[in-house]
Amino acid sequence: MNSSSIITFALLSLLLALNPNPSLASGRNDTDDDTAASTVTRYSRYVKNACSITQYQRLCVRTLWPFAIVAKDNTSKWARASVAVTITDTKQILRLLLKSRRSAVGKRERVALSDCRELFVDSLDSLYKSLAVLRKLDADDFQEQMSDLATWLSASLTDEDTCLDGFEEASLRSSTVRKIRRKATKCMHLSSNALALLNKLAYDGL
Ligand SMILES: *[C@@H]1O[C@H](CO)[C@@H](O)[C@H](O)[C@H]1NC(C)=O
Ligand SMILES: *[C@@H]1O[C@H](CO)[C@@H](O)[C@H](O)[C@H]1NC(C)=O
Repeated sequence: MNSSSIITFALLSLLLALNPNPSLASGRNDTDDDTAASTVTRYSRYVKNACSITQYQRLCVRTLWPFAIVAKDNTSKWARASVAVTITDTKQILRLLLKSRRSAVGKRERVALSDCRELFVDSLDSLYKSLAVLRKLDADDFQEQMSDLATWLSASLTDEDTCLDGFEEASLRSSTVRKIRRKATKCMHLSSNALALLNKLAYDGL
């Protein structure tokens, strides 16, 4: 299988798994391939369109395309999805940071990693609060909700940035530090994308 047919297959499987109407799942038919191809085109248009306003578009498309089936053109669903994927990556880096306790090289690195751990715990907290609000958006509290979300997502972005600052020093270049820097940078880009999608939501309204 080439990569586009793998994607077609994955999307189609997902569709069949999600589709409550069994008629699509039964009756394999020569025209199914065409249907799958146009479905993929449609969903890839949704995700590209949603990601077009983000700064890290390739990362956005790569991480958010599985949500296209559900989110379609709904900005609030895209914002929610982007916070959800940021949470997943933040949990990953926290696991790494916990493991790195033992592998730290020297005092400075230990301090930088421990600061980073605290920052990412804080960031995760902000992201969870954001997700909770995105789950119960309502028109009456919309302005206030948008303002809370902007505060928390910016706080999360600042935490990630501060963690990276802690590794600026040239002496901190162990393999653990390099790995953490890479992951922290990715989290920062994901948060930046989430903030862009939030801004779109604030602008579009519910
Ligand atoms: C395949 O599907 C098309 C339209 O979806 C239909 O017209 C055709 O009769 C079907 N063929 C078979 C063999 O089921
Ligand atoms: C978008 O999805 C939310 C649920 O997440 C729903 O309440 C809202 O009505 C949807 N908006 C549109 C325009 O469909």
